[in-house]
Amino acid sequence: MWDSEIRAQFPAFTQTINGMPLVYLDSAATTQKPTVVIEAMADYYRFHNANVHRGSHSMTAEATAKFEQARQTVADFIGAPSKNTIIWTRGATESINLVAQSYARNALNTGDEILVCENEHHANIVPWQLVAEQTGAKVVKVPITAYGEFDFAQFTQLLSERCKLVAIAHMTNVTGARQPIEQVIAAAHQIGAKVLVDGAQGIVHEKVDVQALDADFYLFSGHKIYAPNGIGVLYGKADILAKMPPWHGGGKMVEKVSFSGTTFANPPARFEAGTPNVAGAIGLACAIDWYQQFDSEAVHHHLHQLQTATYQALQQMSDVQIIGYQPNATVLSFIMPGIHHQDIATLLNQQGIAVREGHHCAHPLMDALNIKGTVRISFGIYNTFDDVERLIAALNKAIDIL
Ligand code: ALA
Repeated sequence: MWDSEIRAQFPAFTQTINGMPLVYLDSAATTQKPTVVIEAMADYYRFHNANVHRGSHSMTAEATAKFEQARQTVADFIGAPSKNTIIWTRGATESINLVAQSYARNALNTGDEILVCENEHHANIVPWQLVAEQTGAKVVKVPITAYGEFDFAQFTQLLSERCKLVAIAHMTNVTGARQPIEQVIAAAHQIGAKVLVDGAQGIVHEKVDVQALDADFYLFSGHKIYAPNGIGVLYGKADILAKMPPWHGGGKMVEKVSFSGTTFANPPARFEAGTPNVAGAIGLACAIDWYQQFDSEAVHHHLHQLQTATYQALQQMSDVQIIGYQPNATVLSFIMPGIHHQDIATLLNQQGIAVREGHHCAHPLMDALNIKGTVRISFGIYNTFDDVERLIAALNKAIDIL
């Protein structure tokens, strides 16, 4: 099935890159988009383009219905109790900033702590540093194990009554490690701390049920789940959202505006000032519907097999050192000591192979591992064993050149 039926749904694979058919191994950065998603957005712009929750003409009613149906699709997809717990954002980064500025800025005081592991993406570190400066709270680093993983034992030692918030990725973006979010949530809740789970990498590789997880906040970007850029989601528990003040002011997030004072709408509108990304929301709902037609276990198994095959092939190469290998993941990072990661990526690109190289917006992890960067291979639903063969052949050629 993977060879033809799925790939044929992605126009990106009809092209050549540097004269070679594209091998796309950068889905952790962003996924390619199936035609059905591209068409859903184009269809909105062609025939249904109107602002939402404003006016009473037919097109605005249609656009509003599609926009709110998309919110329901997201709620159902992650097991949220109500579509009113789903806030549209521009992406995972904005979702985290929203929680930092609306929740944490008001809930935290001098001396309070936010626990964040050093293997996190900058998007799950910097917003906490900003709010720590604003509130007098402190960002406390949870160290990694020697293998680059979240160190649960050290986490429990650092967890105290001072901790008010734990921010943790569901899956990390450099090694693809699946983190112990269930245990972290349970431990944090025991001392009354809230937990934010960054699902940017996890949402597409595991079925998520935010209620079973008991996450206080869970968020992700559309573009990593075959949906458009510029649309993201923040789920928050209803009672927490209800107490959070707005973070952006503007139209549609208010109940009543006057120059003597303004009252605000209930969530989710309170957090969605201005004209939203309607096409993006429709595209995300379409991507979720499209993705759910597949047997998720079969998809995950296929991607894990690709990662395992790549790992086994890379292990045969004496010049290659794998960084923090995770069995049954969809990401693989490696270095070649003495060779710059950018040189490897450039030589792969010349052979039509797209990978990501660099620090992956994870400076603290790079520092902890004492490396400057890695070459990262990451898989999506369209990848095949042919892609792995092309990668290994291209890498062997690159090694000869280097
Ligand atoms: N966070 C994305 C990545 O890891 C962009 O590549």
